[in-house]
This record gives sequence, C-alpha cells and structure tokens, in this order.
Amino acid sequence: MGLKEKSSDLRRRMRSALKGGGEKAIEKQKAIGKLTARERIITLLDPKTFHEYDLFVEHAAKDFDMDKKYLPGDGVLTGTGTINGHPVCIFAQDFTVAGGSLGWMHAKKITKIMDHALKLKIPLIGINDSGGARIQEGVNSLAGYGEIFFRNTLASGVIPQISVILGPCAGGAVYSPALTDFVFVVDKISKMFITGPEVIKTVIGEEISMEELGGARVHCEITGNAHFYAESEEECFNQIKKLASFIPWNNSQKAARFPKKSPKTRQYKLENIVPDDPKEPYDVRDVIKALCDDSDFLEVQELFAQNIVIGFARIDGHTVGIVANQPLVLAGVLDVDSSDKAARFIRFCDAFSIPLVTLVDLPGYLPGVDQEHAGVIRHGAKILYAYSEATVPKITLILRKAYGGGYIAMCSHHLRADFVFAWPLAEIAVMGPEGAANIIFRKEINSAEKPDEMRKLKVEEYKAKYANPYVAAAFGYIDAVVEPEESRKMLIHALEISNQKNINLPFKKHGVPPF
Ligand code: HXC
Repeated sequence: MGLKEKSSDLRRRMRSALKGGGEKAIEKQKAIGKLTARERIITLLDPKTFHEYDLFVEHAAKDFDMDKKYLPGDGVLTGTGTINGHPVCIFAQDFTVAGGSLGWMHAKKITKIMDHALKLKIPLIGINDSGGARIQEGVNSLAGYGEIFFRNTLASGVIPQISVILGPCAGGAVYSPALTDFVFVVDKISKMFITGPEVIKTVIGEEISMEELGGARVHCEITGNAHFYAESEEECFNQIKKLASFIPWNNSQKAARFPKKSPKTRQYKLENIVPDDPKEPYDVRDVIKALCDDSDFLEVQELFAQNIVIGFARIDGHTVGIVANQPLVLAGVLDVDSSDKAARFIRFCDAFSIPLVTLVDLPGYLPGVDQEHAGVIRHGAKILYAYSEATVPKITLILRKAYGGGYIAMCSHHLRADFVFAWPLAEIAVMGPEGAANIIFRKEINSAEKPDEMRKLKVEEYKAKYANPYVAAAFGYIDAVVEPEESRKMLIHALEISNQKNINLPFKKHGVPPF
C-alpha cells in the first residue's frame, strides 16, 4: 500500500472510531438533553483547538465475550486544547460506548492525559459520564480507578483540576471528582452516588429516586460535593471558562492580570448596603460587588452553607479569593459546613498564589447540640488551620460584628493576616453586648429594684466601652479604622505592597490538619 491507500485506510479507521457507540446510542443521549462527548469538548474549548490522542486505543479484555466487542476509543476521549487561550488537558467519557464504563485501557488513556497535565503543568478537566467500573474487567477496572485517584492526589495543589459531571458518576467513580478542586453539575443530567437507589432498596429497604439521591441540586445544596450549578451544559461550559479566567495554570504562576475597572458604584453604594444596627441583615455580596473590579464576582458553592460566601473577584486587575460572612443567612455564623467550605477554598487560593480578602461580620460559631454533635470543634478548626498556614497575602476588613471565636477565625492578625482594617461600625469583643452584660453584671442586674432597666443600662455601658474597633486598635490588632468609601483604596494598596510576599513555614513533611 502506498501513502494514498494508507491515508484512506487511516480515514476509514478514524470514521469508525469517531462513530462512538453508534447513532442509536447517540440519539438516546440526545433525547435526554445531553451533548456527545466530542461535542462537549469542542463546545468547551476555544474553537478548533482540540487535539485528540489515543483515538485507536482498544480494550484487551477477553472474559464475558469482551474479545468480540469493539469499543471505539475504549469509551473515552482524551486530548489537549485551550480555554481563553490557555492550554488545558482534557478527557470526556463517552456514555454511548459501553456506558462510558471504566476498563483498564480507558483508565490508561485518562491517566496518560493526567500525567501530561502534571508534566506540562497545565490544568486538567475531566468530563465524567459513566456507569462506573466496567464490570466485565473486574479488578482491572478497580486498579484503573486507583491509578486515577493517586494522580488526582499527586496533582492536587500543583495544577487546577476541574471535574464536570455530565451523566451518571456512580460507585467509587465519584472519588476522582471529590479529589479535584471544582465540581460542575447540570440540572437533571448529573447524578452522583456511591450506591444507587436499587442497592439502597435491597440493603436497607429505603426507596429514593436517582435525582433525589444524587442529582445536581442535592450536591449543590445539601452535600456540598459540587461547586457550580447550571441549568444546561452550555451554561456549565461558560461557567468553566469564567473560572479559568480567574485562576493560574499551575502553582508556580500567578493568575493573569486584567485591565483594572471601577466597581459599579451607582448600583453598589457601601453606605447604603450595611445597616448600622448589628442585628439587621444585608447581602454581603453587595459589599463584595462594591469593592471589586466591574462588580464582577464569581461565587463558588453559591447554594451550599450560604452563611459564608466564597468566590473569585479582581481588585485593581488582580485575582483575589474572597471569604465573607453572610449576615443574610443565620446571621453569618460559622458552623460545620461553612467552616468546611471556607477552609477548602482558602487552601486552594493559598496553593495557587491567590491573595485572600476576608470580610467579617459574624456573631461567632453557631451554638447548639446539633452542631456540637456534628463535630463543630473538629470542622470549625479547619478554618483556623487553613488561614494560619496560608502564606499568600491576607487582608481582612471588619465591617460590623467580630465576636468571640469568629473574630479570631476570620483571618485576624493572630492567624497572621498582613493587614486588618475595620469600619467605624465594627464591634470587636468576646461576645455581643447583651450576652456580655448578662454575665459580667449578673449580680447588679439581679439585685436591682428594676432588673430590666438595670440590664439596659449595663448593656449601654458595655456598648459604649467595648462595642467599637478602638479597643482592638489600641492593642494594634486593627491596623487602621477606615471609612467604608476608603475601603477599596486601602485594599488596593495593601494588595500592591504585599505582592512580593514570600514567607516560609517551619520545615515539615506536611501538617496534620483536622480532616
Ligand atoms: C459495564 C456498563 C456499566 C458498567 C453501564 N454499562 N454500566 N457496562 N460496566 N459498570 C453498559 C450497559 O450494559 C449498556 O450496555 C450501556 O452501558 C448503557 O447502559 P444502560 O443501563 O442501558 O443505560 P441507562 O439505562 O441510561 O442506565 C445508566 C446507569 C446503569 C444508571 C448508569 O447503566 C447502571 O446502573 N450501571 C451500573 C452502575 C453501577 O452500579 N456502577 C458501579 C460499578 S462498581 P449495552 O451493551 O446494553 O448498550 C464501581 C466501583 C468502583 O464503580 C470502585 C472504585 C474505587
């Protein structure tokens, strides 16, 4: 055969491989609103940048008549391309081929592209759509998963890893996404669980639908396993592109700097957002938008543990990670889930050189038997650990309340914030005036002729003395008390001068955080 014939043989082979599981299987997927694996990659990446590898990989399984089955590409596409001009490695499982199930060669394709990502130090994106371990390949499928989990762990903190769940992701398969940095899900399409409804029914007799067990909303609102929720695959890909614009390619680079833009100050006026009364709620996202470039804030885990808000924004063109108490939900308290949510985000930012801006307004940790028994001590400690070990620039702005453990936990100077600013409204104390007066003036209140009046008096006395930022400022725990409208200027300057921050923690193999 000459080159001409060999080229036409190549094209024939390619046509056959590109068919995936065939038209019928593709139609079945389309009917439930799914794109094909190849369409997904092409839609997500910059136009014409997808370069596919290992198209001709085939499985080598023999048992259960597998030797008679041709599985194009062994049910997964792998390759490289760009997003917003930045290189990425990508894989997408093809459900039309044996349900995207993971056999040994399928896993080898994934681990090969993962190795590329780690070697080339570029982000890894995995699109998961699979029935899990390929049952016919037995322990080799489990081995494949193990090899993937190991690499997820090795790559953690070196390159950003993004998981997109666009179909079933069942059994141990869920642990690869769980080890990655960000998990994207789409309504009605994504399903994640360790054991499905049928197994649950057989083993413990409970009946539940797949959607209720592990649908997109469940993982965004209840479990916190997913970070971004979309109504359609297209919306999901746009979210990924946006995230990619905020983060660096790897841990030895900084995120790209963008031209600076002013916040939309007509829409977001700080003096109109935060009420004077420390008990009145407001949406802290409006404060974030009043402070960041173009009022553009990409919220992460928007639907989970909403008493804390985390996400990416830019200040003066630089990406920052924002952590903010949300007075709109549970008065912005810290609890099991919000500590967990914030701690992981702080560690991501620290691993990828993204400065942290913390906005504080909270009454402390949430009291209650439920929280104590759910392990608020252990989970609450995560945020202390994450802030303490973070060596990126850390800038804190206390908006209103900062009471008790909450004051310390929300990146106080004691956890090595580089700068702590406070508004004149700020109250930094062990607890709120009512609680404090009830305890320290108990005798006077109880023995007074009119206890209620005495209580009021003592509360006012306490407020006048301690419910302000000046006691903390007198000890140097606050670097500057600033008017709200000065805040952005202060943040810009603080970020600018901490740009070259480079500190080392004491030598250790690694710490032992409370997880
Ligand atoms: C081999 C599989 C498969 C699997 C699906 N298929 N899952 N083949 N191994 N795990 C095949 C089906 O046989 C079928 O092949 C094709 O994929 C499409 O599957 P359907 O069942 O027709 O699709 P659908 O009705 O949409 O149902 C999708 C599904 C269901 C809900 C995912 O297939 C399912 O429940 N699969 C098993 C899920 C599961 O229990 N996985 C856990 C495995 S154990 P044909 O030839 O008919 O088209 C595991 C442990 C890993 O993952 C541990 C790692 C630590």
